[in-house]
Amino acid sequence: MRGLNNRVAIITGGLGDLGYASGVRLVEEGCQVVLFDRLPDDEGKAPKIGAACFRVDIGDEAEVEKACAAAQDRLGPASILVNCAACFIFKSIDATAADWEKICRVNIAGASLMAKHVVPRMKKLGGGSIINVSSVSGFVGQANFATYNATKFAIRGLTKCWAKDLAPFGIRVNTICPGYIHTAAFVKSCQALGKDIEEENQRAAAMHLLNRQGRPEEVAAVVAFLAGDDSSFMTGSDVIVDGGYLAQ
Ligand SMILES: NC(=O)c1ccc[n+]([C@@H]2O[C@H](COP(=O)([O-])OP(=O)(O)OC[C@H]3O[C@@H](n4cnc5c(N)ncnc54)[C@H](O)[C@@H]3O)[C@@H](O)[C@H]2O)c1
Repeated sequence: MRGLNNRVAIITGGLGDLGYASGVRLVEEGCQVVLFDRLPDDEGKAPKIGAACFRVDIGDEAEVEKACAAAQDRLGPASILVNCAACFIFKSIDATAADWEKICRVNIAGASLMAKHVVPRMKKLGGGSIINVSSVSGFVGQANFATYNATKFAIRGLTKCWAKDLAPFGIRVNTICPGYIHTAAFVKSCQALGKDIEEENQRAAAMHLLNRQGRPEEVAAVVAFLAGDDSSFMTGSDVIVDGGYLAQ
């Protein structure tokens, strides 16, 4: 009863772990999925699940406009937008103007540019669902995470404002806030910092009441819920998927 069959969904950061898991789930639910990512799909992830893929930097409005038009030409107008792409810069008061420009351009302006070019088509369809991906980092302070956390707080603000702006058009806007999810990026960052993966895994697990990190599919399941009609009376909400991280 999700009502997702044949709906077109655009997912930014679609080749990343959470974006791709969301794509897999939405395909399973019957959606036609389009993955947007700044990286090329060298591993053929999109064709593996029958999705389309466009290479686009969401911080560049000309690229966003072109890719949204191309996606519509290929599959028709999207009624679902998942703003999942993110730039990860973890700095505190040492952040430079260039750091701020880079992270805000993708994590805040990029999400907004996507909405700008997807929403007119949603309006013509008579409704839709936008899901902005924030984080537990959009609720609390974390040491040396100021740049990233500021953008994750900001995207919750975008959700609240857009929910007001777009409700008259039948477009719902919600935020999903994952806790720590076990991803390839997590493993890679441990390796890059020369940290023991198992130790880091346990440290991250201990931050959650459920004493483990989440799995990408557990976030994707909630994306599917927010995309479809099961969440028809939800807009402007923060949906926390964090194994109890914030409950403590
Ligand atoms: N992994 C976690 O533990 C976790 C926890 C909470 C929230 N999140 C959020 O979930 C989302 C996805 O995270 P992930 O762990 O899958 O990361 P990831 O690095 O695997 O995926 C991010 C994707 O975004 C793409 N991207 C980056 N900049 C882009 C740009 N300018 N234009 C288009 N694509 C761009 C990257 O190429 C990458 O494929 C992010 O918004 C992140 O903040 C992740």
